[in-house]
Amino acid sequence: MAKRVFSGIQPTGTLHIGNYLGAIRNWVDLQRDFECIYCVVDYHAITIDVDPKELKTASRSMALDLLACGVDPERSILFVQADVPQHTELTWILGCVTSYGDLARMTQFKDKSEKQEFVTAGLFTYPILMAADILLYKAQGVPVGEDQVQHLELSRRIARRFNSRFGELFPEPEPIVTKGARIMSLADPTSKMSKSSGEAHYVGVMEPETSIRKKVRSAVTDVGLTPGEAMSPGVANLFQILEIVCELQGEAATVPQLKAEFADGKLLYSRLKDTTFDRLMGVLRPIQERRAKLAASSDVDGILADGARKAAEIARATMCDVRKLVGVGTGA
Ligand code: TYM
Repeated sequence: MAKRVFSGIQPTGTLHIGNYLGAIRNWVDLQRDFECIYCVVDYHAITIDVDPKELKTASRSMALDLLACGVDPERSILFVQADVPQHTELTWILGCVTSYGDLARMTQFKDKSEKQEFVTAGLFTYPILMAADILLYKAQGVPVGEDQVQHLELSRRIARRFNSRFGELFPEPEPIVTKGARIMSLADPTSKMSKSSGEAHYVGVMEPETSIRKKVRSAVTDVGLTPGEAMSPGVANLFQILEIVCELQGEAATVPQLKAEFADGKLLYSRLKDTTFDRLMGVLRPIQERRAKLAASSDVDGILADGARKAAEIARATMCDVRKLVGVGTGA
């Protein structure tokens, strides 16, 4: 049987090039060799305040974005998390083998909770839901950006604890991390590009070309240079983006050439930015065009319903084993 891969993305906010270059392009590649299950995680999204009316639209819209990026429903399962209720059922059981101390150590929880006055239990137990997402499908590989690696380590610990308390059931999922696993903000290249830091910090995959040009042109390049380091974080980030988008287009010469100019002190940052913008659009334009066509023609609701049906089949079988091992329910 092909190795099974699972990954998820939150529907709130815009799909940005950090998501795409760090994770989604890898989701697309992995479809060639593995059985892939991809999920729009709407239960995760409600750990922060979201408008219920907007959430459903956002989930559909994220599914369309993923299809435009190349997730292929003929080959992979694509669905919305809350359409398969076993995710939350397994979360409770896994919560009973998860250490409070482990959850309290999660850096993402510490970062997010510091910014909020009202910290919910949902935000705290978020990594258990993530472990349930993965273990429900007994996935072995999980393509993610660097910010999710700590959550993956916890998922492995949870799998181990479940297996040793109740009996061997879950494989330990491994992160699949690619080049670009940590794309930085353009406006503050010392912090990760994220949906929540505000417009200036990210480039949306579906963003209009004029706006992307403006953001890349005004990317911060000249601050934060630490002694002994050749490149400032902003320049390194632009080079990182350029390197990946050139690779995606089979273009090998550009980056070494610009790096040589940089080493000689001759590289104008305007040239680095213009080249990055140009090659980035070479990758984004076809995705944007596909997105426009899909919005007009695809049966996204049908695709998601089909995906949820296939996912639920696997999820029900796992939960049947889990319930037996744990000893809950009477089978009534
Ligand atoms: P989310 O929705 O924040 O991000 C989706 C994916 O994009 C990656 N990513 C980045 N990669 C590189 N550079 C960046 N600046 C950047 N920002 C985001 C993330 O690492 C992620 O792979 N908790 C998860 C969603 C989730 C999940 C799962 C993932 C829920 N259940 C099970 C894997 C398996 C999240 O919030 O991702």
